[in-house]
Amino acid sequence: MSRFPAEALSRITLGTVQFGMPYGKAKPTLPPDARTLAATLDAAVDGGITCLDTAGNYGDAESRIGGWLRGRRDRPLIVSKLPPVDRPDEVVPGHVDTCLAASLAALGVDRLDGYLVHRADDLHRPGVADRLRAAVEDGRIRTFGVSVYEPQQLDRALAVAGIGAVQLPASVFDQRFADAGLIGRCADRGIVVFVRSLFLQGALFLEPDRLPPHLQPLQPAMRHLRAIAAEAGCPLASLALAAVLTLPGVTSAVIGVGSPQELCDNLAACKAMPPDEAAAAGARKAAGGLPEAILDVRRWPAYSGRSGS
Ligand SMILES: NC(=O)c1ccc[n+]([C@@H]2O[C@H](COP(=O)([O-])OP(=O)(O)OC[C@H]3O[C@@H](n4cnc5c(N)ncnc54)[C@H](OP(=O)(O)O)[C@@H]3O)[C@@H](O)[C@H]2O)c1
Repeated sequence: MSRFPAEALSRITLGTVQFGMPYGKAKPTLPPDARTLAATLDAAVDGGITCLDTAGNYGDAESRIGGWLRGRRDRPLIVSKLPPVDRPDEVVPGHVDTCLAASLAALGVDRLDGYLVHRADDLHRPGVADRLRAAVEDGRIRTFGVSVYEPQQLDRALAVAGIGAVQLPASVFDQRFADAGLIGRCADRGIVVFVRSLFLQGALFLEPDRLPPHLQPLQPAMRHLRAIAAEAGCPLASLALAAVLTLPGVTSAVIGVGSPQELCDNLAACKAMPPDEAAAAGARKAAGGLPEAILDVRRWPAYSGRSGS
């Protein structure tokens, strides 16, 4: 049986929801044109990023990535996701195989390195985990797992046999999964842990006194973080990256960008992370304790009527 090649994984994974739909609830941006998209992907690979995170329900992100992949001799690792079943009360036979086939076709590849159940509860529908294990067996995917929003979703998923990768939100503001011991449990079992929401959809970079009303509770923490970054002599993004990448068990940070420049900034920020772990720990302490209504982006007002991405 195959497994996810964690040893080949870069500390940053490029998130691609931004390629297929308007994104960034703090400051939404539109998907890039074809040239910018190719420039972003080229810059990612040239900068040492070895993995892309995408999903069957990120608009046309998969087929746009597929267009870029065509003609390349080598390709980055690709993790995609199983779109939610439309009707949550229905069991849809063939959903896994149909959606997986669609992702493989859109991307133009014959195997995915990881395939995550996008809506965590779908993993527990009859037949879903069985079909995912079958896809690992016959080589359509290297490993499967789940993308979660809440610690209890991960706790439940870890009871499912064969899980090899998970994606969860964590940031300098949010250590719920680490505090619950869940990241450590994944690491102990050799499960690859992807972390997203490091920048809270870009909110981290807004000026503290220009936050939209629903993000006002971030203000004191953001001022604190700016002061800690200044003291450590590193960019704010470096501090935010260090706060997550120094958590034991975190394998890679999934970060989406609005432009190739942001990607280059993030690669530079990764290199400029403070060498002293005390700065990261201090930042986590200074920025923790925020209410879930801030930490869970699905609960932000701009999300009403939309499913999470
Ligand atoms: N349920 C799931 O599985 C799920 C949910 C959400 C996301 N994801 C994945 O995770 C990826 C990241 O999404 P996220 O929600 O976690 O977002 P994030 O990484 O917290 O923030 C990304 C946003 O931050 C801004 N940004 C990034 N680098 C920047 C820089 N150097 N300077 C200024 N702004 C910068 C960009 O917004 P602007 O364009 O506004 O500048 C970008 O859209 C997505 O692409 C997707 O692949 C998965």
